[in-house]
Amino acid sequence: MANLETLDVYLSAHSFPEEELRDKVTVVIDVLRATSTIVTALQNGAKEIVPVEDMGEASRIAQSVDSDNILLCGERDGIKIDGYDLGNSPLEYTNEMVGGKTLIFNTTNGTQAIKKAVGSSALYIASFLNLSAVVDILRKEEKDIVLICAGWRGRLALEDLILAGNIVYNMCDGKLVPEARDGAKVAFGLYEKYKGDVASVIHSSNHAVRLKGLEVENDIDYCSQKDTCSLVPVLNKGIITR
Ligand code: MLT
Repeated sequence: MANLETLDVYLSAHSFPEEELRDKVTVVIDVLRATSTIVTALQNGAKEIVPVEDMGEASRIAQSVDSDNILLCGERDGIKIDGYDLGNSPLEYTNEMVGGKTLIFNTTNGTQAIKKAVGSSALYIASFLNLSAVVDILRKEEKDIVLICAGWRGRLALEDLILAGNIVYNMCDGKLVPEARDGAKVAFGLYEKYKGDVASVIHSSNHAVRLKGLEVENDIDYCSQKDTCSLVPVLNKGIITR
């Protein structure tokens, strides 16, 4: 049973040292759009996803595996990387496109957060799409849990924090213990205040505005949906599978 007194929320991938996660269960959150895309890709039949930090690591891995079955995927600042097969719109990750494939996945903040947390005792991927499935798994965890908001280049991202708050809220059935960690209290408070209109909060976030400028508004609606999927991606030996 999860310990709600030690459940914590880190506000960005830059806000903690890796060593802190050694014996903890971590959950990486990048609502717009990396973790929503990972969940969608696996739901639509991708075999596995290899998160990478940069182009160099992506090309090294791409050269070392059977090129018929891999796709290079990802973005910088929201825009598909030149020469890659796919960008970071979850709507591109259809079964026809990703079924049976290994995806090498390279994003501005989401995959950086995942790489930073590889040393944790277990690592799960969360989005609004698989919210309840994530909460069900976390409720059973005995170890301390940290929800990591990927954020944007070291800054807080509202859409990530409100999902962290929704996870905390559901885990404690809407009643947070006074001994809870500060990070959990802040996320819980944000979600509690806006729980009637989470989609509007997501749409008003800085990154949603950035994405609207790139004319990918449908992605924001897509990533704001709750519980469309019951799988929880998990990282094992550097590879994410369902
Ligand atoms: C990221 O990893 O920073 C994001 O997923 C950016 C994006 O929306 O493509």
